[in-house]
Amino acid sequence: MRVKLTVQKFNPDIDLKPHPQDYFVETSRGMTLLSALLKIKAETDGTLTFRASCRAAICGSCLMQVNGSQKLACKVAIKEELEHHGKIEVGPMANMPVIKDMVVRMDPFWEKIRAVTPYLLEDGGKPVPTEALKDIHKKLDNADACIMCMACLSACTSYEVSPGFLGPAALAKAYRFQADPRDQGHVDRLEKLQGPNGIWDCVRCNFCVQVCPKDVQPMEQIIRLRRRSIGAGFTDSVEAKHITEFTKVVAAEGRLNEALLPVLMTLGNIRKMIRIIPLGIKMFLHGKTPFPFKRVPGRQEIRAIFKKWEKPK
Ligand code: SF4
Ligand code: SF4
Ligand code: FES
Repeated sequence: MRVKLTVQKFNPDIDLKPHPQDYFVETSRGMTLLSALLKIKAETDGTLTFRASCRAAICGSCLMQVNGSQKLACKVAIKEELEHHGKIEVGPMANMPVIKDMVVRMDPFWEKIRAVTPYLLEDGGKPVPTEALKDIHKKLDNADACIMCMACLSACTSYEVSPGFLGPAALAKAYRFQADPRDQGHVDRLEKLQGPNGIWDCVRCNFCVQVCPKDVQPMEQIIRLRRRSIGAGFTDSVEAKHITEFTKVVAAEGRLNEALLPVLMTLGNIRKMIRIIPLGIKMFLHGKTPFPFKRVPGRQEIRAIFKKWEKPK
């Protein structure tokens, strides 16, 4: 079958801006996009530039944008892609500075990975009891399956508007060491993730989960880091307070009370409390504040659920 591939070409030495170029390839049964690109490079256009190595979805180097989504070219079957989209458009992964054609700069990604100290912090080389290593792969929740392909960072909506954000891959890596019983830096690691650009900057769009070729589920790892942070007593941030107070309100009233939540979150800070008064008045006028004496049916059952899941002190 003869297939058209539209590839975004860009050579900063000669081009003012990226431009699409059509190539026609004779495809064979089960051919991948990477094989098609290698064929084009060998037979039609030797200047076509992209990264690739293993051809088996292991090395993570052939990540590119295929029909608007971040994918490993060696994992994309030409036939299936055509069946789903009716076309094949290829370009460099999104939100990354392009060096040439599909090759992008990776240093912003590596800086983020380095920032989370991606190695075990040991306690003076003390031997780890064998018992602690039992079922270790289960404890890591697949966070160790990352192949550093950058798909998640490229798809991340928070990174798109805030390049300082540590991003999904680095935070999944942070969880990988957080969950490792051999690591001795758990609390320090969590502390470093609390500020701007840390775990609370994820907007939970889920795109990193959708594009990850290894099911690392970075957003889920970030949520686990948030839970551990709250459990470790890092509850001062607005976001952590939102979670803890939200839970308390639902546990007490059996529903969310939108009027009470901001009050609890700002309690003790007069300036912040004064600032939310106009919001409270607006909410009241628009009927968004629940009547305080109206009980939610089944409140006792809801309380019982919270009680059951409360961790014993
Ligand atoms: S869920 Fe969070 S980390 Fe994942 S892509 Fe969205 S904003 Fe980024
Ligand atoms: S978490 Fe998944 S998408 Fe992100 S770099 Fe690792 S393997 Fe790629
Ligand atoms: S070539 Fe290694 S992941 Fe595609």
